[in-house]
Amino acid sequence: MTTLDTGFAADAATLWNDPPTLPTKWLYDERGSKLFDEITRLPEYYPTRRETEILAAHSVDIARRTDAALVAEFGSGTSTKSRLLLTAFAHRAALQSRSLRYVPIDVSAEILTQSSHDLSLDYPAVSVEPLLADFTEPLGLPSSDGPRLAVFLGGTIGNFEAAGRAEFFGRIADGLAPGDFFLLGADLVKDTGRLVAAYDDKAGVTADFNRNVIEVLRVALDATGLYPDDFAHIARWNPGEHRIEMWLRTRRDVDAYFAALDRNWRLPAGAEILTEISTKFEVESLESELRSAGLAQEALWTDSQEDFAVILSRR
Ligand code: SAH
Ligand code: AVI
Repeated sequence: MTTLDTGFAADAATLWNDPPTLPTKWLYDERGSKLFDEITRLPEYYPTRRETEILAAHSVDIARRTDAALVAEFGSGTSTKSRLLLTAFAHRAALQSRSLRYVPIDVSAEILTQSSHDLSLDYPAVSVEPLLADFTEPLGLPSSDGPRLAVFLGGTIGNFEAAGRAEFFGRIADGLAPGDFFLLGADLVKDTGRLVAAYDDKAGVTADFNRNVIEVLRVALDATGLYPDDFAHIARWNPGEHRIEMWLRTRRDVDAYFAALDRNWRLPAGAEILTEISTKFEVESLESELRSAGLAQEALWTDSQEDFAVILSRR
């Protein structure tokens, strides 16, 4: 078992939709998480570098403004950028002889275990308390003596549809108490050519990341007749929804059988499956969505190119 089993068979029902879709979380089995980590270092994939730039410049300020005793991060992955926050928070906690708890929350078990182990070694003064959980479901945040900071980085908020995004912000607001904080990283609308290149890199890593979901399906649903190489990677800008969409297009007729469901999955050559959306934001609309959820903006930072934004809100 490489990911949290949150009803794969039920989720797979959308494979028979028109167009077929899949929940984004199925991209992150152990191999998918490693491929995503590789993506973050690709020359075309600017978001990680831009957000790192913002966090490097403002983590000390974020620690000062929030004075958080507990940092809970949704979709923490390798927690690489979170180290910038943890260094600032741990330093502040040490100066005030306070303790600091870090709760990384992710659906991908291996990456969560490995990164928590590494963080515990590198931050001995921080209590690292990993939580294997699905952030699309209700989740109670651990209680704390001091203020809490919920963190959602990487632009992962863009992987929700608008309704799911509103629900997520609502859950965050409900899970926080007045005086707690929410730190959000979001990718901004920009030149279409740069956006498409970021999701269709020359080395083909994003294509492998996308196609890997077919292997995840094959294993989880005990499929026959299902091969990743039968699918081509497509990254497409959807201007109406201002989002990048990742699709898989069949290179030939696919005739698969899912033994776990006792069901066939037949697609003609040229059929397309929507595997991920990655919405890009205008700052004003995001601010207003946060406000509507009861999250009042404290600060907003962008990088030097204005590619990416990090927003600190207070419940
Ligand atoms: N925050 C990191 C990783 C982003 S990749 C960064 O900024 O680089 C998205 C992360 O969210 C992955 O680690 C993936 O496993 C996790 N994830 C995706 N869907 C999830 C879900 N429904 N519940 C919990 N974690 C999820
Ligand atoms: C995790 N998430 C924010 C990434 C994104 O940019 O939407 C996932 C990704 N998909 C393809 N490349 C990266």
